[in-house]
Amino acid sequence: MAMIGKAMLVPLCPIRQYLRRGYSAGPAFQYILVERKGQHHNVGLIRLNRPKALNALCDGLMTELNQALDTFEEDPNIGAIVITGSEKAFAAGADIKEMQNRTFQECYRGNFLSHWNHVSFVKKPVIAAVNGYALGGGCELAMMCDIIYAGEKAQFGQPEILLGTIPGAGGTQRLTRAVGKSLAMEMVLSGDRISAQEAQQAGLVSKVHPVDSVVDQAIICGEKISRNSKLIVSIAKEAVSGAFELSLAEGNRLEKRLFHSTFATDDRKEGMTAFVEKRKANFTDK
Ligand code: HXC
Repeated sequence: MAMIGKAMLVPLCPIRQYLRRGYSAGPAFQYILVERKGQHHNVGLIRLNRPKALNALCDGLMTELNQALDTFEEDPNIGAIVITGSEKAFAAGADIKEMQNRTFQECYRGNFLSHWNHVSFVKKPVIAAVNGYALGGGCELAMMCDIIYAGEKAQFGQPEILLGTIPGAGGTQRLTRAVGKSLAMEMVLSGDRISAQEAQQAGLVSKVHPVDSVVDQAIICGEKISRNSKLIVSIAKEAVSGAFELSLAEGNRLEKRLFHSTFATDDRKEGMTAFVEKRKANFTDK
């Protein structure tokens, strides 16, 4: 808890203050707040910050989110990234007002939403800390993250059907893989939401926490991950992510190749040597 207390001393800051503290360069952000958290400032926190629209994911917000992710991805001190929203809404979906008058031609020719899945290509672990509504694109954004922590009052849903459309950022695929066909079908076809507790039971969420501690808990998880070798963590993430893409045989083959590759790293040697010498490992591979 002391670590959290210390981390809490650093207030959320817009990008200008972030830059003033000497962190890596980036543009001024309008829709998100970024900060480094944790005792060693090695967890990047991105807070979606469009409160009047319940963090509806407008194009500008998604562009900024991607820029912040890239900044943390390139920062060698950052070992994990947390994405969160407000207590009322993680994100209430793609911006319906922005989409209202779009035509098929614009969507198709412009490859609408093609930049949305950037988070799923980040090599470092990304944790979603979800309070309130995670609907439509908001639920899809959470599912692109590697771990989802939910506050007790969080609600997850894919209500696009109520708007005459369907999920377009992986909802039909990732939700089905996470919770199974029957529940995914029910949610996508009816637009019904599920609670944090139901989401945990179904396997969408790994832990449910009190509303006011879910972000801190996600940061603690990020700190714990950051203490491991950053390089090996990314390799482990790639292996687990393979389970979503590949057959069992292909996935096992990928895992074996990646496992072998760890033997080319200093950190694998250090980890095993530290165990044998009964000391704490000092990982250095970035
Ligand atoms: C734009 C949104 C929005 C959204 C809320 N707002 N959700 N604006 N896009 N997705 C705006 C409202 O218009 C309103 O602003 C303000 O946020 C507060 O919302 P209220 O509806 O007044 O709040 P409340 O009564 O508390 O209801 C909360 C809610 C409801 C249940 C979450 O807002 C809601 O149903 N929102 C839409 C959820 C949804 O359908 N999401 C899927 C979007 S489609 P104003 O200024 O008008 O008062 C999608 C497609 C993904 O995500 C495809 C690929 C990415």
